[in-house]
Amino acid sequence: MGFLHSSIRAQVLSFLVVANAASTWGASSLISCLQSAGINTVSPNTSGFTQDALAFNRRFEYTPAAIVFPQSAQDVAAAVKCAAASNGTVPVAARSGGHSYGAFGLGGQDGALVVDLSQMKNIVVNSDETATFQTGNRLGDVALALFNNGGRALAHGTCPYVGSGGHAGCGGFGLASRMWGLVLDQVESAEVVLADGSIVQASASTNSDLFWAIRGASPSFGIVTEYKVKTHAAPASNIIFSYSYSVNPATATKIFTAFQTFSQSSAPPELGLQASIGQSGQKNVISITLTGVYYGSTSAFNKVIAPLLSAVGVSPQSKSVKTYAWVPSLVELGGINTLNTSLSGDSHDTFFAKSLMVHEDALLTTTAIRGFFDYIGNQGASTDTSWFVLADLFGGKGSKVRAVSNDDTAYSQRKGLYNFQMYASSSNSQPPFPADGLDFVNNMLTSITSKMPSNWSFGAYACYTDPTLTPAQWKSQYYGDNYSRLVSIHSKYNPSSLFRYPQSIGS
Ligand SMILES: Cc1cc2nc3c(=O)[nH]c(=O)nc-3n(C[C@H](O)[C@H](O)[C@H](O)COP(=O)(O)OP(=O)(O)OC[C@H]3O[C@@H](n4cnc5c(N)ncnc54)[C@H](O)[C@@H]3O)c2cc1C
Ligand SMILES: *[C@@H]1O[C@H](CO)[C@@H](O)[C@H](O)[C@H]1NC(C)=O
Ligand SMILES: *[C@@H]1O[C@H](CO)[C@@H](O)[C@H](O)[C@H]1NC(C)=O
Ligand SMILES: *[C@@H]1O[C@H](CO)[C@@H](O)[C@H](O)[C@H]1NC(C)=O
Ligand SMILES: *[C@@H]1O[C@H](CO)[C@@H](O)[C@H](O)[C@H]1NC(C)=O
Ligand SMILES: *[C@@H]1O[C@H](CO)[C@@H](O)[C@H](O)[C@H]1NC(C)=O
Repeated sequence: MGFLHSSIRAQVLSFLVVANAASTWGASSLISCLQSAGINTVSPNTSGFTQDALAFNRRFEYTPAAIVFPQSAQDVAAAVKCAAASNGTVPVAARSGGHSYGAFGLGGQDGALVVDLSQMKNIVVNSDETATFQTGNRLGDVALALFNNGGRALAHGTCPYVGSGGHAGCGGFGLASRMWGLVLDQVESAEVVLADGSIVQASASTNSDLFWAIRGASPSFGIVTEYKVKTHAAPASNIIFSYSYSVNPATATKIFTAFQTFSQSSAPPELGLQASIGQSGQKNVISITLTGVYYGSTSAFNKVIAPLLSAVGVSPQSKSVKTYAWVPSLVELGGINTLNTSLSGDSHDTFFAKSLMVHEDALLTTTAIRGFFDYIGNQGASTDTSWFVLADLFGGKGSKVRAVSNDDTAYSQRKGLYNFQMYASSSNSQPPFPADGLDFVNNMLTSITSKMPSNWSFGAYACYTDPTLTPAQWKSQYYGDNYSRLVSIHSKYNPSSLFRYPQSIGS
């Protein structure tokens, strides 16, 4: 983080000699407003700005008007008021962990005021099985604090560096979600800074319309500075399993069909399950792994998994079944040897991803599954990208994600059985993104949809933001039938669209 060196006088002097006077004046009055409010501010002229403005996804580069590092909700409110005084010229975006696939934490465009929450890391585990945390916390740090204070746990995504603020705002899915829900399902209340700079509470009983909207679409409504969530006793036995197959497209189709059928009919809520499809490097050789976590005993796991393995019908090339305590299980899944994000540096990538949520009442046909494996069996071996596909089980019998009614929250994918994430990056994680990358991923999706009936309805998971979706696509795929309710609540809480980005409500 850098600090502002240039004085206001210097900015005013440069204003006199710069042709684009209006925008220069706007920027310097924004920065002087932020500084007068005593908020730690990094402007484009500050050393460190370039570093602070980097996106996790290096496919995007945006230049914010300024980046602020508030210490409190009051600082956030003051920063919002400074942007509001720009009469709509400066959009505001919160940045929690910065992991948005579309760099929406930088506003997804040039010229935003970025409210970086990383200095706001309070976290308290309460005596009533709830916890309260500020949204500067990353997922790994939340998990550690919960467990270290009474053995508590929350269902959330696996990457320790993902920010709690962005994650809870769009969903927040992890392998324990079928047992406990999405992060937004575990939220009991939130503190929110609104576009007028007021600091309000949102819960089922206070500002319930706002509470409905932030559980699925928070970035369009305000900046959530703090969440209160339900917690759970961390399970003692967490079995991480994987069964890996290296097969031709016909056998892969059979394995995936078994995954789909088992997911709908047999998987109990204590099972987190995904089909992970990776690069084999060889034409028409598909690497597919059935993997996940079972929260329970080994004997119960063996009974639960047996019907899936028998429906698959072929023996895995390799398998692994290991029991972990809670925190070690999260460390194993997180893949970076620690959950404490102060102990290791954040990474980045250069990538494009698409999401395809398959609804339980409109499963893929065998022809569509085969179309997908034929495509990756061919193009997957010749693309210049590094890629993977994850099909994550969200729904199915007894799933807590499924148990919530589709109109209880703004998250509208309750009938999603599983979600495909199709992800391709540059092989060294650095720019440039390979020229064939967008087509490769887009065609992966159409290898499925083109084989389904033309009126086939599917969704997308908003946390796996795809900035290339058209407005008609993202409105229906992320928000479904409840989009119009979001628009009307938006006109009450964010009427001038101060919080706006390329896929914000009302745009
Ligand atoms: C490596 C990696 C692994 C991932 N794994 C998972 C996973 O296992 N499960 C899953 O569900 N998702 C996963 N995701 C997706 C992740 O949930 C989303 O990208 C999420 O939005 C990131 O949150 P963030 O705070 O890090 O991002 P940011 O870029 O900071 O924020 C994302 C969006 O939310 C807004 N925002 C941020 N904080 C707030 C706030 N406090 N109030 C209001 N709006 C806010 C931002 O303005 C932006 O629009 C993963 C992403 C990555 C990059
Ligand atoms: C930043 O510096 C440039 C050139 O040095 C100047 O034109 C501009 O006004 C400055 N901007 C701000 C916001 O201080
Ligand atoms: C915003 O509009 C108000 C009222 O029209 C005006 O007084 C103010 O100077 C404007 N501010 C900016 C930064 O343009
Ligand atoms: C993470 O590590 C830092 C630095 O050692 C330490 O101060 C902090 O308490 C740790 N956090 C947790 C949640 O253990
Ligand atoms: C799609 O079209 C078919 C054939 O016309 C029809 O039977 C089916 O009900 C339609 N499905 C949806 C989801 O509209
Ligand atoms: C959300 O959409 C569903 C399905 O169309 C509809 O029944 C419900 O009334 C909508 N809910 C709200 C709160 O608008």
